[in-house]
Amino acid sequence: MRIRILALVPLLARVLANGPNEIIPAPDDIVHQTSQIGGDTAAPHHTDVYVSGDLLCNDEGCYPLIFEPSNDWQVIKPEQRLPVGLDIRVNLDTGLKEAKLGDGSTRLTDEMQAVEVTSTADGAEVVPIAEASEATVGANSATINHEFSQQFASIQEALNEDNYALAEARFDDVLEFAHDYKHGYTIVSNEFDLLSSVCLNTSLPTSLREIDARFILGCLRNNPPVIEYIETHQSGFARDIFNSINAVTKVTEDIQVLVKRFIGILTVLIESDPAYIVGIDDFDTLGKVFYTIDDKQLRLRILQIVSSFVNRVHGEDIAPTMKRDGILFVVPAIKDWAREYMRYIKDADIDEEHLRTFFDTLYNLKTDFGKDLTVDAPFLNWLANQVEVRKARLGNGEEHRDEEQDVFDRKLINSRHLVFGNEMADSIKNFHDEL
Ligand SMILES: *[C@@H]1O[C@H](CO)[C@@H](O)[C@H](O)[C@H]1NC(C)=O
Repeated sequence: MRIRILALVPLLARVLANGPNEIIPAPDDIVHQTSQIGGDTAAPHHTDVYVSGDLLCNDEGCYPLIFEPSNDWQVIKPEQRLPVGLDIRVNLDTGLKEAKLGDGSTRLTDEMQAVEVTSTADGAEVVPIAEASEATVGANSATINHEFSQQFASIQEALNEDNYALAEARFDDVLEFAHDYKHGYTIVSNEFDLLSSVCLNTSLPTSLREIDARFILGCLRNNPPVIEYIETHQSGFARDIFNSINAVTKVTEDIQVLVKRFIGILTVLIESDPAYIVGIDDFDTLGKVFYTIDDKQLRLRILQIVSSFVNRVHGEDIAPTMKRDGILFVVPAIKDWAREYMRYIKDADIDEEHLRTFFDTLYNLKTDFGKDLTVDAPFLNWLANQVEVRKARLGNGEEHRDEEQDVFDRKLINSRHLVFGNEMADSIKNFHDEL
């Protein structure tokens, strides 16, 4: 391994000799050049590569935007983004760049570090190699070049000086870039250690942690590559956030805002991969936040998280009783959550998207729990009313139909008898019994 990594040295030397604007010569073909971190590769016959969702495509087909490392060396395809912490080499036989999961055994010699420093100063072409090298060395002082290196170096500097007001101001300067698809990914893939350490550090001022968490949330929203990056390479982050919320002892106003950001981050991560939320403790935590902080938007998000879990279990290919037991095992308080769904679904201000999510969750719960879950009369009244509203919409004769809406409306209408029907009969029966 060490020997193979050292094979980089002659190659870097060649790059340096060619100057910053030259390309790495590869035996068979010209190598594509890009100034983007992790973007350069040495694949032959590449044509124009474009991003399509979280794929990169060219004339020959598509492949993942983010390189998926394994324990074996694999060729890095044109424009693929590289996660940090990989071992990278250039295969001198083929001239192609290859990467695999770092095993920590690759330590840079002094000689290589010297080469690397010069190379980052001299040409973007070798930056990805430097990036991976830094990661294997674990150097905190890494000055990896990307568009926002300087801004983040200045944030780090302010933190080192315990100048938190300045650090906050610096975060404020870069906040607008978080929402940008490309910049957001560049920043998260290069600066995640800094970003996560600030929002999770309870010794730091809450306002600083909050702006940092807001920054991360901005990067995550509507940015699948960022979500995938965190899920793949920072898979402990959701757990850390849960722990951080659990560690809250005093719910001050600024802590409430921070917790809201945390829940926002969790909502995005868990919606993308419900496997993030698995433990009884997680639902306890969510319950505590839900009942402690009276904030409608926050509560809707928490209900969304619980929905992600319930709907995932419901979707599994197992018997309904197993689904019921599975949900009860992890969420013993599921009936309390069901009550909240019934409560919030009736809210006149709730948007259709939340309404559908909450309805589907109740529908799934009722399907799996049967008589073990009772729905209340106000919910049944709401449902009866919605059936009329939605019947009218289905029959409104409009030509250009929203197919999804129609499907949902039919589901809701039919559920009144098929899913929630027994309940209705039961409550009528009870009503008669009481007379
Ligand atoms: C949290 O921040 C404090 C104050 O800046 C610092 O001394 C400490 O090392 C940080 N802790 C972690 C785990 O980063």
